[in-house]
Amino acid sequence: MNRTLKTLTAAAASCMLSAAFFDAHADEGMWLPSLISQRIEDMQAKGFRLTAEDIYSINSASLKDAVVLFGRGCTGELISDEGLLLTNHHCGYSQIQKHSSVEHDYLRDGFWAMNRDEELPNEGLTVSFLERMEDVTDAVLQGYSPEMTETQRDSVVKANSGKLVEKATAEGNGLRATVEALYYGNQYFLFLYREYSDVRLVGAPPSSVGKFGGDTDNWMWPRHTGDFSIFRIYADKDNNPAPYSEDNVPYRPKRHFRISLGGVEEGDFTFVYGFPGRTQEYLMSEGVRYISEVSDPHRIALRTMRLDIQKKYMDAGQAVRIQYSSKNAGVANSWKKWQGEMKGIRKMGTVGKKQEYEKAFMEWARGTEYEGVVERLDSLYGLLEPYSYATDYYGETAYSIELVRFALGYNKKLTESMLSSSTDRIAELRKEMKKMAADFYKDYFIPIDRESFVAVMEAFDRNVTDDFKPEYFKESLTRYGTMEAWADSLWNGSVFADSLKLKKATDSLRLLSEDPAVKFGDAFDDWYKKEIRPVTKRLNSEITLLNRDYMRGQMEFSPDRVFYPDANLTLRVAYGSVQGYSPADGIYYKPVSTLEGIMEKDNPEIFDYNIPQRLREIHAAKDYGPYTVTDSKGNITVPVCFIATNHTSGGNSGSPVINADGDLIGINFDRVWEGTMSDIVFDPDLCRNISLDIRYVLFIIDKVAGAGHLLEEMDFVSDR
Ligand code: ARG
Ligand code: ASP
Repeated sequence: MNRTLKTLTAAAASCMLSAAFFDAHADEGMWLPSLISQRIEDMQAKGFRLTAEDIYSINSASLKDAVVLFGRGCTGELISDEGLLLTNHHCGYSQIQKHSSVEHDYLRDGFWAMNRDEELPNEGLTVSFLERMEDVTDAVLQGYSPEMTETQRDSVVKANSGKLVEKATAEGNGLRATVEALYYGNQYFLFLYREYSDVRLVGAPPSSVGKFGGDTDNWMWPRHTGDFSIFRIYADKDNNPAPYSEDNVPYRPKRHFRISLGGVEEGDFTFVYGFPGRTQEYLMSEGVRYISEVSDPHRIALRTMRLDIQKKYMDAGQAVRIQYSSKNAGVANSWKKWQGEMKGIRKMGTVGKKQEYEKAFMEWARGTEYEGVVERLDSLYGLLEPYSYATDYYGETAYSIELVRFALGYNKKLTESMLSSSTDRIAELRKEMKKMAADFYKDYFIPIDRESFVAVMEAFDRNVTDDFKPEYFKESLTRYGTMEAWADSLWNGSVFADSLKLKKATDSLRLLSEDPAVKFGDAFDDWYKKEIRPVTKRLNSEITLLNRDYMRGQMEFSPDRVFYPDANLTLRVAYGSVQGYSPADGIYYKPVSTLEGIMEKDNPEIFDYNIPQRLREIHAAKDYGPYTVTDSKGNITVPVCFIATNHTSGGNSGSPVINADGDLIGINFDRVWEGTMSDIVFDPDLCRNISLDIRYVLFIIDKVAGAGHLLEEMDFVSDR
C-alpha cells in the first residue's frame, strides 16, 4: 500500500471510529451558559421554547439568576421572590444534622419553620449567584510564549488571573471571582459570583422521606427518595450580602422559577441548570484503565471495611446513628458510585476503544505538531501510576482516621496561638479551637475510629510496597508488633482521644507535637509532601501540558465532533428528555415512579424503608390534593421521581430541572447506577439523571408536613 493510500485508509478508519464511539451523542454534554447560543437551535429542535437570552443574559434577568452554587458542592434554585431556595436533602444534610440532637432529632423527624423567626441560621454555609462569566484567554496568557516551560506558563497564568480577580472584585460587596481553565488550559474564563452567607434552614422532611431507601437505593432506579430541603437567603436592607444578623431581611432575587404542575411524560424536553463538579471525558486510555481497574477496586475495598464497622455500631444505638449519619453517607456515596463506574467502563469496553482511537490519532498525527503526544502521555501515565496508587491509599487509610485529622487541625491552631504575640489573635484562635473541639467530640465515637484504623492500616501494610511506605510507618509497626498494639498506644496515649485531657493540655499551654496522634499525622503528611506530592505534581503538570495539545489535536482530528469542556464546578446547561432505559437483557425501566412504589417498599422493620405513619394514612385515604397522576393501571396516585438523559455529575445535586417553557418540574439529585461512568464516558443508552418530581415536593410540604404556608410565596403554572 502506498503512503497516501495508507493515510487515507487510516483517516477513513479514524472517522468511522470517532463517529461510532466519540461523536457527541444526542444529549451528551454540559454546555457553558454564555455560549449557549451555539446549542440553542438543537435545544429548540428538541422542544425548548425559550431563547438563549432567557437562559443567560448579563443585561437583564435570566434563568441563571435563579440558580445558585449551594455551599461548595451542590446546586440550589430560587422559588419565590422572598429568597426561598430548594436544594436536596443530602445537600442540606450536614446542616440538618448539626441542628439535631437526641431531643430534637430533625434528621429523624424532619424540621419545619412555621414562621420566619423559626428559620435556623447556618454558620459557614454560603450560596453564590453567578453575576457573569467571560472568556479571558487572551488576558490570562498575556506575556506567555511557547518556549516557556509549563512551570513558567503556570506563573504567567497565576499572575494574570490574580490581577483579573483583583480587578473584578474591586467594588467589594460580597463579590467573589475565579479564573478557570477549560479544555486543559486551551481556554480560560472568569467567573464572577455574588456570595451570600446568611442562609437559613426553613424545612426538611424526615429522613424516612428525604433519604428514603438510604444507601440501599442510592444511585439506583427505580427510586422513591424525597430528596429535598428548603432554605432562605437573607440580605441586608439593600439586598446585599451580609453576615448573619437579626436585622437581615429575605433576599429579593432578580429571578425565581415558576413551578409547573403540568408534570412529565416520556419524551418531554428537560434541561438541568447547575454546577457539575468534575468530569474527565477526554482522559486517555491509560488514565481510564487506572481508574477502572486499579483505583476504583482498591478504594472500594478500603471503604467496605470502614462502612461495615460503622454499620455495626450505628445499628446498635440511636446516638451513634445520629453522630455518624452524615459521615457514613459521605463514605458510602462514592463507594457505591465507584462500583457502578468501574462496571460501566468495563461493559462499554472504554479502555480498548480509547486505545483504538489513540492508535488512529497517532497515525493521523504523524508529521504534524501532534506527533508523539499520545506516546508521551502514555509513558507519563506509566510513571505516575505507583504515585497515584500511594496517594489513593494515603487518602483512604491514614488520612481517613478521624482522630488524626482532628489532632493535626487542632494542633496547628494551638501552635500558632502559642507563637503569636497578638492577644487578639490568640483569643480568636482559642475560640476557634473550642468550637473545633466541640464539633469533633459531638460526633465522635472511638470504637468506630479505632477499629477502622486497624482495618485500613493493615490493608495499607499489605497492599502498598515497602518503597512507598513512610519510614515512620515501618519503624513504628516493627516497634508495636501489631496494628492493635499501635492503636492502643494511640487511643490510650493521645490527649485528643479525651476532651477533658485536651482541654487541660490546652489550658496549661502544653506543646502537643509529641502527642502520638499528631506524630502519626505529621509523619504521613511529611512523607506525602516530600516523597509523593512533588512527583505527582511534576508528572501531572507535564500531563496537563500534553493534554492541552492532545485536546487541540483531537479537535483537528475530528472536526465534526462537538466538544464540550469537562465539568469544573462552573455553571452548565445539560439538556435531554425524559426516557426510560434497559439496564440488562429482558428488562426495561419506565421513566417515572409513584407513591405506589413507596408503599410497595414500605417496611417498618427496615430502617431505610420505614415511612412516616402520616404517609400511610394519606395513602389509605387517598387524600392527595391536586398532586396526582393516573398510573398505567388507571390508579390515581402521586408522582415521585423521574429519569432523563441529561448529562449531569456530582455537584448537580439540587439543580433545577426545567421544562420547555423554562418552568421548574423537578430537582435533580442522582444518576442511575448503570450510568455512573458518565464522568468518564457517556452512554446514551444507559446514562440517566434522577430527579424528584416537583409535585411530590409540594405534596410532602403541604399534605405530610403541614407547612402549606410556604406554597403561598410560590408561583404556579399548570398547563403542559
Ligand atoms: N448519590 C447522590 C449523590 O451523589 C446522593 C447521595 C446522598 N445519599 C446517600 N444515601 N448517601 O450525591
Ligand atoms: N448526587 C450527586 C450530587 O450530590 C449528583 C450526581 O452525582 O449525579 O451532586
